[in-house]
Amino acid sequence: MKAFISIALLLIAGLAVSIGIGFHTKLSEDTLPFDDDQKGINDQVVIKFSHVVAENTPKGLAAQRFAKLVDKKSNGRIKVEVIPNGGLYSDQEELEALERGDVQLIAPATTKLSAFSPKFQVLDLPYAMPTRESIIEALNGEIGKTLLQSIEKGNMKGLTFWTNGFKQITTNDGPVKQPSDLKGQTLRIMPSPVLEKQFQLLDANAVGLDFNETYRLLESGELNGEENTISNIYSKKFFNVQSHLTVSNHGFLGYAVIMNEDFWKELSEDQQTIISEALKETTKWNQTHSFDMNEEQLRLIEQQSDIEIYRLNDEEKENWADQWGQVYDEFEEEIGSDLINKMKKLRVKFSDL
Ligand code: LMR
Repeated sequence: MKAFISIALLLIAGLAVSIGIGFHTKLSEDTLPFDDDQKGINDQVVIKFSHVVAENTPKGLAAQRFAKLVDKKSNGRIKVEVIPNGGLYSDQEELEALERGDVQLIAPATTKLSAFSPKFQVLDLPYAMPTRESIIEALNGEIGKTLLQSIEKGNMKGLTFWTNGFKQITTNDGPVKQPSDLKGQTLRIMPSPVLEKQFQLLDANAVGLDFNETYRLLESGELNGEENTISNIYSKKFFNVQSHLTVSNHGFLGYAVIMNEDFWKELSEDQQTIISEALKETTKWNQTHSFDMNEEQLRLIEQQSDIEIYRLNDEEKENWADQWGQVYDEFEEEIGSDLINKMKKLRVKFSDL
């Protein structure tokens, strides 16, 4: 009898739960009040934008600005999800993730495209673009156009270029004034044959490593130093684990903004226009402010740390440029003489060396 009562109670309880679930489902499907935020949610296009730097950088801020503009221009129908700090993919991984379509947008340093298109190394030539104006002319002109075309062979749609700034050198083994001061030092660089060659010429040991590994390796002493923009040195706090900073302006660091091509083709013409317009506005903002941001962050490093800062004078810069001169000839075949010649002309036009 007891067993019969227990089974009956269980059945009644089960029935009550099922009715509850059914009622709940019915409620959410049919009778919940209309929520404007959910309207058209299934038609929303989501663009995952992965990058490796901090948010308070020229790229980090441009990415956020772009996301806001797209949201506004599309009335929320296109959403850009920005994932900074390599939170989703590291430098190397993000290119593969883009090609697979796991993310739709990335903005890798142009250097990181050299394995894919060796022509990109033209932007890494030492002292190639001596002023910010020369950089803007290279990126927005013929050189940039040729470079973006050169990556069309992959599942990539090159959209525009963003700037960060000039690269500087930090080390725990300084000061670094002459090229020979780097002899024997182990330095982190972005993976790139032309950068490797530059440091080889100075008898330094340059290693291509992921950006977000750099702080740890500098702190542990496995690396003596690295080269990067002030903005990256500041936002990733490299200055806290380095004793010397040389303001050399010896190279450029900027970004190619690239979309997965299949994804781009599936967008409607209207959606493409919204993205292109938002990108155009963002690029203008980025190219106008990135260099000042670097200058401001150099002042902050000076205020916040006791790292020793040395600024190369013009004569010293000329010495560094001479030491690296042969790189132009050695990479002419890989990069292409047309691009190298265009860059040499630009260098002369804007030279303040
Ligand atoms: C680096 O690896 O040093 C840079 O590419 C990081 C960045 O994206 O600015």
